[in-house]
Amino acid sequence: MKTDMTTTYLGLALSHPVVASAGPLTGRLDTLLELEAAGAAAVVLPSLFEEQIEHEALNVDLGLEYGAGYQPEAASGYFPELDDYKTGPDEYLNLLERASNALSIPVIGSLNGVSSGGWTSYARQIQDAGAAALELNIYLVASDITLPGTAVEDQYLHLVSEVKNIVTIPLSVKIGPYFSSPGHMAHRLVDAGADGLVLFNRFYQPDIDLEDLTVSPNLILSTSIESRLALRWIGILRSTMKASLAATTGIHTGDDAVKMILAGADVTMMTSALLKHGPYHIAEVVAEMTQWFTERQYNSVKQARGSVSYTTAADPTGYERANYMKTLKSYSPNAISRFWLTDPADETGIVNRTSS
Ligand SMILES: Cc1cc2nc3c(=O)[nH]c(=O)nc-3n(C[C@H](O)[C@H](O)[C@H](O)COP(=O)(O)O)c2cc1C
Repeated sequence: MKTDMTTTYLGLALSHPVVASAGPLTGRLDTLLELEAAGAAAVVLPSLFEEQIEHEALNVDLGLEYGAGYQPEAASGYFPELDDYKTGPDEYLNLLERASNALSIPVIGSLNGVSSGGWTSYARQIQDAGAAALELNIYLVASDITLPGTAVEDQYLHLVSEVKNIVTIPLSVKIGPYFSSPGHMAHRLVDAGADGLVLFNRFYQPDIDLEDLTVSPNLILSTSIESRLALRWIGILRSTMKASLAATTGIHTGDDAVKMILAGADVTMMTSALLKHGPYHIAEVVAEMTQWFTERQYNSVKQARGSVSYTTAADPTGYERANYMKTLKSYSPNAISRFWLTDPADETGIVNRTSS
């Protein structure tokens, strides 16, 4: 009997646990429709960024000041009040509205920022444009070294409760892994109002251009190996976490997605794999997952969820530090010789120490 692949995420009933996460393919109606046709269970639109909102607001502000100073009509209310003015990135809300109307799968909006303030009111506009849920991406690089960790954490919590007070749709919070106690922080975010967590943001690290001597960001798509960080924390959190858990980063294959479910994820999300292989890769991943669960006679994904988590795994130390020594020891001499030791006769002259 085929495994029942349905799942629930943020209270939304989904046909299976593979969601297209925020990225270029979810930023256009035509590719959103393709993702739906390929079988995506839900889609997350790219983020509306705090900087985008503030920038727009600033431009209008400057425009108003300029107008007030240089046009006589301005003083008598020729220009609209800022509140009435459409300062927001209208295109975003417009896309969201069109997507929500055109797609029958849930369309999740996304806000991306770090500070409390006026920009968060866009959460309400995202809800009003038809989003089934809101993902709040807090992509914070704590570069201010005068700020202690507790202050950074408070900033997260304040932002989450602020946004939660603005919307009535479910709220997920997408975070990075860099907390001194990620599990504790995860619970505090839920206490502050998150209905679900998206683990983890993939931080893009800077690079130095040796020609220009500039610090340049460059985006390299993920690989499967990167999924292990989220796998660990989802596995550790599952049994104590009532809120939804979504896995993001490094999910490329059916096997990657199955592992996340076994660790305890409610859904898995993909961006890089879809950019590499196209929207229809979703259908392949879902088929691979379905086959895996069906062959092992799982009745449902719900039954499988968390069955290899921290509290249920045969050897939970795999999720802990105790696994560190074991992991180091698991690197075998055979593997070493395969990678860099060659035959003594080899012209590179590298001696094969395993044979001496
Ligand atoms: C080109 C690109 C654009 C992205 N844009 C957003 C975005 O607007 N908001 C967001 O929360 N995540 C964004 N992401 C992050 C993805 O949603 C995802 O979390 C990340 O790429 C890790 O997943 P992956 O390994 O499946 O790519 C973007 C990723 C890529 C590659």
